[in-house]
Amino acid sequence: MAAPQNTDRKAPNILVTGTPGVGKSTLCSKLSELTGLTWLDISKIAKDHDCLEGFDETYQCSYLDEDKLLDGLEDTMSKGGNIVDYHSNEFFPERWFDAVFVVRSDNTTLYDRLTSRGYTGKKLEDNVQCEIFQTILEEAKSSYREEIVHEMYSRTPEELEENVRNICGWLEGWFRDKGESN
Ligand SMILES: Nc1ncnc2c1ncn2[C@@H]1O[C@H](COP(=O)(O)OP(=O)(O)O)[C@@H](O)[C@H]1O
Ligand SMILES: [Mg+2]
Repeated sequence: MAAPQNTDRKAPNILVTGTPGVGKSTLCSKLSELTGLTWLDISKIAKDHDCLEGFDETYQCSYLDEDKLLDGLEDTMSKGGNIVDYHSNEFFPERWFDAVFVVRSDNTTLYDRLTSRGYTGKKLEDNVQCEIFQTILEEAKSSYREEIVHEMYSRTPEELEENVRNICGWLEGWFRDKGESN
């Protein structure tokens, strides 16, 4: 994987995105533990910092106040060294990220994970469809330079380990290239 450079940052920012239930937070937690990068769980941050407004009855969730969230994160992101974890991605500024990892699953695995999370009805069906139609991958490809967008399946513990290894390898490459360019 090529490591595109943003020489202003001392450490890269990466985005981990994908349909709910594909394994983003599991991956981010491991990565953060291993690399010392800061894991930003956007759903949690939005809740803790009052960036939610209204309520969608169909999906049983609140709407995100994107402007408020982005303003609050700007300083942290400009310093670098963050892993952003969120199920959507097009509203983040493109300049924030050095790499975008789209976590993928298959429909039966995802169906089982979302069912055990308590999802039912339209919310369950729509999320599984979202994965079948690779909506989040397409969103990422149309929002970021294609060469920084990487797709990775995380259906099994082995795939998770492989993804962690690949991202750690990418990070090493980023720091090596940065060292050479200074
Ligand atoms: N690679 C994997 N292999 C097996 N189970 C996984 C894997 N990744 C995640 N899981 C499980 O799937 C569920 C959803 O994972 P989570 O990381 O919370 O997804 P997300 O943050 O994308 O919604 C959790 O129960 C988690 O333990
Ligand atoms: Mg999560």
